[in-house]
Amino acid sequence: MKTFNPFVLGRYESPEYFCNRTEELKRVDNCIKNQRNLTIISHRRLGKTGIILHYFNQIHKQKELQCIYLDLMHTHSTEDFIKAFAKSVIGKFDRKTTQVIKTFTSMVKSIRPSITIDSMTGEPKIDISLQDPVSRETTIEEIFTYLKSQKMSFIIAFDEFQQINNYHEKKLEALLRGQIQLTTNTTFIFSGSQKHMLLSMFGDNQRPFYQSTDFLNLGKIDREEYKKFIAYHFEKNKSTIETEAIDLILDLTEVHTFYVQFICNKLYSTNSKKITIDLVVNTMLNILKEHEVIYYNYRNLMTEHQFNLLKAIALEGLVKMPTSKDFIQKYRLSAASTIKTNLDSLINKEMILQDEIGYKVYDVFFGQWLKRLDQLY
Ligand SMILES: Nc1ncnc2c1ncn2[C@@H]1O[C@H](COP(=O)(O)OP(=O)(O)O)[C@@H](O)[C@H]1O
Ligand SMILES: [Mg+2]
Repeated sequence: MKTFNPFVLGRYESPEYFCNRTEELKRVDNCIKNQRNLTIISHRRLGKTGIILHYFNQIHKQKELQCIYLDLMHTHSTEDFIKAFAKSVIGKFDRKTTQVIKTFTSMVKSIRPSITIDSMTGEPKIDISLQDPVSRETTIEEIFTYLKSQKMSFIIAFDEFQQINNYHEKKLEALLRGQIQLTTNTTFIFSGSQKHMLLSMFGDNQRPFYQSTDFLNLGKIDREEYKKFIAYHFEKNKSTIETEAIDLILDLTEVHTFYVQFICNKLYSTNSKKITIDLVVNTMLNILKEHEVIYYNYRNLMTEHQFNLLKAIALEGLVKMPTSKDFIQKYRLSAASTIKTNLDSLINKEMILQDEIGYKVYDVFFGQWLKRLDQLY
């Protein structure tokens, strides 16, 4: 029988496979229990979606409570937003669906849900189409009216919420803020990776959502807790893992959740009874080889100056002052003014991330590849 790989990637499985986040969960819970809306911010792939889904998993069985999760990442317009919103409010297909659809469509006139069979899974699924008669604003107001009319309470998570800034329609932000304020049986969680955009939405006194939520700046998972989690899952599979090997995993990945999970998933799939430092190094190199085609593609999307700057940052790991004389001389980079322009462009492309302590390569594995580039070939 194929064993289940406990280092889950790209989805939420269950509490057993979720590492720690105890303190952060307490904060989320405190906000929700006191009906304060919350904004969760972190760099990509640290675990925002994970913590939301884990929290929902813990509380969803409470009576008269419905948890609604909605990922806005791939929405590009108000229509996309409405469809995603309606779909998640109606929820998964189950025996209550017909009744829910009936009530929902009696209140939200322009939405036509239909039940179809998913061609991939063969399971029933709900599709949403939008009819034209009323304005998009009215439709959104009607969805909120539906929520307010229900006797239960809701928690709604809008994941990658900054995406609404990219819609052509600009009135949505103010409209949502107004509706959210009126929907008193619902608490909202907003989350996103684009810190500047979110901080401007929630921290700028000219914007509708100004100071309307608490903030949770999601950091890395506690290193000691991650060590225990990794050891536990290997040992459960009757493998041993050297303490040094765990440390190396956490060093190579900078304890960035997705990368830790990824390398551990690969290590687990080797089925080795003893996880050693050598195996970690080999696995890392294999991952970099596998991803190489993507990295070369990244490289093609950059100018030579940009690539050299990125490589220099990768070699340093973390750069506090990329325009400093020392850094420029050490890596023979171009003039400080060019570096500034290139930095902005690379930050925009999410190749570099900038935080309180400095600049580094956003994608941890890409950083490892850049660092080794001269040794690999
Ligand atoms: N606490 C956790 N324990 C184990 N895996 C996690 C945890 N949080 C997130 N993950 C995993 O890490 C990866 C990135 O997490 P995700 O929540 O998608 O990040 P984000 O939403 O911040 O981009 C996913 O593969 C997810 O399954
Ligand atoms: Mg996410």
